[in-house]
Amino acid sequence: VAAEKTRQLTVQMMQNPQILAALQERLDGLNGSPSGYMESLPKVVKRRVNALKNLQVKCAHIEAKFYEEVHELERKYAALYQPLFDKRSDIVKAAYEPTDEECEWKADEEEELTDEMKEKAKLEEEKKDEEKEDPKGIPEFWLTVFKNVDLLSDMLQEHDEPILKHLQDIKVKFSDPGQPMSFTLEFHFEPNDFFTNTMLTKTYKMRSEPDENDPFSFDGPEIMSCTGCTIDWTKGKNVTLKTIKKKQKHKGRGTVRTVTKTVPNDSFFNFFTPPEVPENGELDEDSEAILAADFEIGHFIRERIVPRAVLYFTGEAIEDDDDDEGEEEADEENDPDYDPKVREHVPLKISGAVRKDLTQQFSTLLAQDFLT
Ligand SMILES: *[C@@H]1O[C@H](CO)[C@@H](O)[C@H](O)[C@H]1NC(C)=O
Ligand SMILES: *[C@@H]1O[C@H](CO)[C@@H](O)[C@H](O)[C@H]1NC(C)=O
Repeated sequence: VAAEKTRQLTVQMMQNPQILAALQERLDGLNGSPSGYMESLPKVVKRRVNALKNLQVKCAHIEAKFYEEVHELERKYAALYQPLFDKRSDIVKAAYEPTDEECEWKADEEEELTDEMKEKAKLEEEKKDEEKEDPKGIPEFWLTVFKNVDLLSDMLQEHDEPILKHLQDIKVKFSDPGQPMSFTLEFHFEPNDFFTNTMLTKTYKMRSEPDENDPFSFDGPEIMSCTGCTIDWTKGKNVTLKTIKKKQKHKGRGTVRTVTKTVPNDSFFNFFTPPEVPENGELDEDSEAILAADFEIGHFIRERIVPRAVLYFTGEAIEDDDDDEGEEEADEENDPDYDPKVREHVPLKISGAVRKDLTQQFSTLLAQDFLT
């Protein structure tokens, strides 16, 4: 009954010329047409508005310089973090045993235990230690991080896991001053049976300059393209390949024989052979989807995983991320049009999300400057 009433009301409304006119105006506004206002201005005024737009383009170019300086600042601070990240890596791979003092950590209040519980926990710990033979460093540190983060675990296949057990560090390297803006993720591996590389790299090229054809859309650096590296797989260990058997019928004789073919296999290690962005920037839909996800992952590793790896290992950072996004996600779930798959097909606009994230980070940075 309610639906019928709504329908009737809609029909009535659509017959009312005033409502239709108002609706048309709204639609014009949505289309970005300035509803004739600009056209209604005297010529001399329009001319001056153009001057304002030219000033706006100049502002975009200054903003680009701002982001270049931010990149410099990031490089400077990266050098300050590095010794701490190196120590983290040394502890993970058992190159350094932290002292008792370095290992002291106050437990959360919630974790305060009664003496009895403490005693029980201690006995259990000792039993566990006896069962495992002397672990070195922090076993499977990075693999655990990967498994704990949805964005990364989605890429992970079962056959990737034994390989990622050998991952010992991920480093972020920024481009040198004066060079085009980029960052490189370095994946450092201990010697293993799978490939001979000790390091796999992925470089993300960025651009921090307004698009000549659309200068007003400029909103900070964007990832434009990325390049991987060649993995020197040991014979028979290339997990990005699989062999399939195919029956093939001889056309003339009609005999059937089985041939083996190698085809690409799902693997995290496909991350190191991303699709290329052609010179003209035109990409097919599949490559576009792959790159959109890839840029998001690259950015996430740089911005979140590398700076706070231990919190992704323990899971603490994941709860934080969930808190941030809780509201947004709830909305998405209530939205009948929300289709989680669509996310994978967001075109290169992901660089928009990247920008937003960067901008937010900078605004905190700036806010701190004012406070101190
Ligand atoms: C290809 O992928 C499947 C399923 O993910 C996996 O079981 C298999 O081991 C892979 N093949 C190779 C040669 O790694
Ligand atoms: C491994 O597989 C990829 C295809 O996924 C291929 O391009 C590459 O040449 C292979 N490498 C080796 C060493 O077999």
